[in-house]
Amino acid sequence: VPLRPYNTFGLDVQARYFARFASADELRQLLKLPQVQSAEKLLILGGGSNLLFTQDFNGVVLKNEIRGLEIISEDNDTHTTLLRAGAGESWHGLVEYSLDQHLSGIENLSLIPGTVGAAPLQNIGAYGAELRDTFDHLEAVEISTGALRVFTAGECGFGYRESVFKNVLKNQFVVTAVVLRLHRHAQPNVRYGAISETLAELGIEGEPTPQEVSRAVIHIRRSKLPDPAEIGNAGSFFKNPEVSQAKFDHLKSQYPELPGYPVLGGVKVPAGWLIERAGWKGLRRGPDGGTHGVHARQALVLVNHGGATGSEVRQLAEEIISSVRQQFGIELHPEVNIL
Ligand code: EPU
Repeated sequence: VPLRPYNTFGLDVQARYFARFASADELRQLLKLPQVQSAEKLLILGGGSNLLFTQDFNGVVLKNEIRGLEIISEDNDTHTTLLRAGAGESWHGLVEYSLDQHLSGIENLSLIPGTVGAAPLQNIGAYGAELRDTFDHLEAVEISTGALRVFTAGECGFGYRESVFKNVLKNQFVVTAVVLRLHRHAQPNVRYGAISETLAELGIEGEPTPQEVSRAVIHIRRSKLPDPAEIGNAGSFFKNPEVSQAKFDHLKSQYPELPGYPVLGGVKVPAGWLIERAGWKGLRRGPDGGTHGVHARQALVLVNHGGATGSEVRQLAEEIISSVRQQFGIELHPEVNIL
């Protein structure tokens, strides 16, 4: 089964078996099939927007198409609303729905590709917000038993692009629904400098509404990030690395323009800056003007202009990692799931 329509890098690979499920029950039925039970490997697919296939997938791919958006309760003391979304819903569709319902809390996460179910796996974050800020709980099916389990925020072990589902519980649960706690009174979060600049640029004055913040975020994303419908990519290819304060001070003396954001125990440095500074930004490789490379407007994004293979993209990523290591002594780690 061709997987090209199901990965935003647009890579032409095949899966041995492929099936879709639209409910937790359908998923349980699929998990009982002999082909699934005996499969060498299993991949639960959402929007395919954080994946790099470097070869055919010799196993079973199950695509999560569980739908449903519903308000499940309202709390009049905290002026919050619990919103439940099926894991197969598009993330941005959920953001739009929340705005239509006059709820705030996820407007800064507008236009992030992928599905609701994938959001908690890496605690998606952008423009000063993270999923965990509004996350209440999720429902998941345990692959080995088919049992339904609820995970509270604490049990998810959220961190920067991190959760238990990426480490200790990796490949053990399938997220079937996510429940968020959103605010009925707008609480605009414009800490991220580019948002206030863009609001001003768009002529929006005073305290912005959640819709206006969303518009600003969409504007910023469109200006920097390639649209996967036009150019294959999976967003940031690497995580932003964290270095010790001492290491940061040392680098800063060599590179006074080096940006850095203080975090617990160190300083976070933008990988995009390191990659740009190492000379990779806008690079194109391969025949006919380049099949793949580094995005010209955001060096953190690797792109497939068309016709590249996943192993070529991985090769490029490895060269970027070693060049950043050599020049800055910093180790970059992929954010994208490489298969
Ligand atoms: N920068 C450069 N050159 C570049 C890119 C970035 O110098 O080519 C420097 C600039 O100094 C800029 C700073 O990096 O001020 C930060 O850049 P940007 O605001 O574009 O954010 P980022 O750190 O590169 C992260 C997330 C993005 C998220 C943005 C906005 C990660 C791995 N990436 O990127 O998330 O949209 O912040 O909050 O943390 C994703 O995960 O797929 C993703 C797109």
